[in-house]
Amino acid sequence: MTEKTYGGSKIKINHQKNTKMETPMKISDIAEICAVNEVVGRIKGIKILEIGCGCGSPDNPISKSNRGERLREKSRQYSCCLGAYEPVIAIKLSEAGADVTGIDLIEVPEKNYRHCVGDLVVQTIPEIVPNKKFDVVISHSFFESPELYEIAKHYRIEMKKVYKKICKGVYDVLLDRGIFILNPPDNDAVGKKILKECGFYLSKELCFTEQYEDRVYKHDTFVWKKCLRDI
Ligand SMILES: C[S@@+](CC[C@H](N)C(=O)[O-])C[C@H]1O[C@@H](n2cnc3c(N)ncnc32)[C@H](O)[C@@H]1O
Repeated sequence: MTEKTYGGSKIKINHQKNTKMETPMKISDIAEICAVNEVVGRIKGIKILEIGCGCGSPDNPISKSNRGERLREKSRQYSCCLGAYEPVIAIKLSEAGADVTGIDLIEVPEKNYRHCVGDLVVQTIPEIVPNKKFDVVISHSFFESPELYEIAKHYRIEMKKVYKKICKGVYDVLLDRGIFILNPPDNDAVGKKILKECGFYLSKELCFTEQYEDRVYKHDTFVWKKCLRDI
């Protein structure tokens, strides 16, 4: 177990597999937490929304399909700890003192943050979290999740339209100067064009690395900022 301090908040990082004592961390999750600290300067008290915060349903037919397996394989390339089936990012940010809200299709039984069940294909973010504004919105492995594709296909909605609607919703719930943190491949999936059309500009590209045993894990993170103008 290692303990790191980000802006005065202590974050425990456990590299053991499937431990029940602590939520296992992946390098990608650490990157998210580092990015909030790097850009905002602290984590305590920050209002954060994570879209697609859960870990999907293992019973979902897509999760069991070849496509689901390919996506999991992709995420394993970045992971130093596998087997976590919990909303790790939301839980860790909340432990570090952030005021965290998460949105997902599925309910999460054990959580230390505000969890809202909603479908981001058919509902807008302000509909799911009415009267709420955030300093930071995080998306990690959400925009390319199999469930999102499947629901869009079911309603015959083009993926571009889905991405645009969700990014517009993120813009609407962000406070002025709020930030939208996207990790690749989410960043690639949505595309710079859509993010710009929705009123964001690319503020920072961060790269975090962490040594675990004999391997160095690297993770790129994109920080998009809200333009202060009407769109
Ligand atoms: C691959 S998981 C990523 C989870 C988490 N962000 C992480 O990095 O560990 C994608 C999540 O998005 C959720 N999701 C997919 N489509 C959704 C939708 N239409 N509305 C809300 N959540 C959705 C899934 O339920 C799943 O929990």
